[in-house]
Amino acid sequence: MRDLIDAAKAARLKAHAPYSNFLVGAAMRDEQGRVHGGCNIENAAYPQGWCAEPSAISALIMAGGTRITEVAVMGNGDALCTPCGGCRQKIREFAKGDVKIHCCTEEGELIRSFTFDELLPASFGPENLA
Ligand code: THU
Repeated sequence: MRDLIDAAKAARLKAHAPYSNFLVGAAMRDEQGRVHGGCNIENAAYPQGWCAEPSAISALIMAGGTRITEVAVMGNGDALCTPCGGCRQKIREFAKGDVKIHCCTEEGELIRSFTFDELLPASFGPENLA
């Protein structure tokens, strides 16, 4: 878990968040055990910005990953920063319900871990289209 949290912490420091000043780092482990980081990237046209989680998902997919097996996320300070609703759905595409989401302080201390199912119960995913 430490490697994942360290990657999220390093990614957070790359955030482009001049409008909210809320820096977010996320890291996702893939099915090969590899870790992929991402940060939020805001935009002067505010709605065009995006969250840290899709940045990390993009890195995972571009590296050839196909599944998310563990997630770490952190915002500013010690406040709990869980993935937003839209990010939960994006994670859902590649994660099973028992995947752990570790929410940390900006220094990388674990605050609380959730299972994905706790964050998005009765979710809609690829298998619902079958
Ligand atoms: N943010 C994330 O990066 N991930 C989340 O799950 C919650 C929100 C970002 C978006 C925006 O750049 C800033 O945090 C404030 O909402």
